[in-house]
Amino acid sequence: MNVTQNSERVRVGTQGEMPEGFQTAVDMDGISVLVVNYEGRFYALRNNCTHQDYPLLGGEVSMGRITCQKHGAKFELATGKAKSLPAVKPVRLFRTEIEDGVVYVSAL
Ligand code: FES
Repeated sequence: MNVTQNSERVRVGTQGEMPEGFQTAVDMDGISVLVVNYEGRFYALRNNCTHQDYPLLGGEVSMGRITCQKHGAKFELATGKAKSLPAVKPVRLFRTEIEDGVVYVSAL
C-alpha cells in the first residue's frame, strides 16, 4: 500500500480501499502499526503481540477483539488491553483520523 509520511501522521489509504474487515500494517517511525476496519470504524495498534514477538496482522477479529494467530491471545481494538491469556500486557494504541476520505494514523 502506498504510504506517505509527514512529521505527525502516516497515510494508510482511502476509506474506499479499506472496506469493513480490512486489515493492513503501516510503518510509523520504524514501528509496524496494524490498522483494522471493524464495523466501519478504524482502529490502530502496534502490530506486535505482547506475549511473544509475533505480528497481529491477519488475526481473526470478532467482538471488537483481534486474536493472535500464534497462541490465541485476544486484544481489544479500542483499548489495546489483553483480554485473553497467554498475553497479559496491553498492546500500544495509535490514533486514527479520517480526513477527506483518507485514513491516517498518528501516535497517541
Ligand atoms: S505470541 Fe501472541 S499469543 Fe503468543
